[in-house]
Amino acid sequence: MVDPMHFDRRAAVYERFRPPYPDELWERLRDLGLLLPGRRAVELGAGSGQATAALVEAGLSVTAVEPGPHLAGRLRARLPQVTVLAGTAEEAELPEAGFDLAVAATSVHWLDLGIVLPKLHRALVPGGSFAVWRTAFGDPAVRTRFRERTGQIVGRRRGAPARPGPDELDTAGWVRELTAGGLFAEVSTDTFRWSILLGADEVHGLFSTFSNWSAAEVEEATRAVQDLGGYVTEHYVTPLIVVERASLP
Ligand SMILES: C[S@@+](CC[C@H](N)C(=O)[O-])C[C@H]1O[C@@H](n2cnc3c(N)ncnc32)[C@H](O)[C@@H]1O
Repeated sequence: MVDPMHFDRRAAVYERFRPPYPDELWERLRDLGLLLPGRRAVELGAGSGQATAALVEAGLSVTAVEPGPHLAGRLRARLPQVTVLAGTAEEAELPEAGFDLAVAATSVHWLDLGIVLPKLHRALVPGGSFAVWRTAFGDPAVRTRFRERTGQIVGRRRGAPARPGPDELDTAGWVRELTAGGLFAEVSTDTFRWSILLGADEVHGLFSTFSNWSAAEVEEATRAVQDLGGYVTEHYVTPLIVVERASLP
């Protein structure tokens, strides 16, 4: 099993090299009425604030839950207006009906939803929403020479550590996980495809934040960028699932 503290050991690299989420995702959240100024949001697994910063910019009052001490420290320094709760989502003490919105940005697969969903159901107001998104670093629909090279690297893995939960692009699987038990009901599922130009240093930084990539594999991917002229266009996919707190009979 991969290690959820991988990110914290690379907190500085994480903050510098993880790209922000695409504008279209924020537009969709806005269209769904989830980014209204003054709304209270709780973000689970906030890391160094890649999503948190945009929530704050939209005018939300944010409580961030982050177990990694280095990441939590960076988050506090970067966004002092955010209340940072150190610890896991499973152990976080959240006020009853204290939030309008819950968010998990590329963190849902680290959460024990059997514990977290009942906790969020209690912490959200009636009609509150849980927005879950996650970037898949590599669009299977787009073939590039760099992706051929990374495919070769990944293809040589033996007994490679698996990330927990359904596959990152299996939105139906994640909707099933999020609505299991009837505490939440699906509102919408969207998928955003986007691309980014990365240099060799950026690939090295970004890939070293991936919890399922070894240091040797990151070096090999970096050499592949150099072989291909020093820059590559990467194509990524970010599925967004929004579920709503169900009223229980
Ligand atoms: C891939 S990072 C995503 C960080 C950030 N949300 C982003 O969008 O870049 C996953 C984050 O989940 C956090 N995490 C891991 N296990 C967790 C848990 N049980 N509860 C809350 N956060 C957790 C990690 O420390 C890390 O910050």
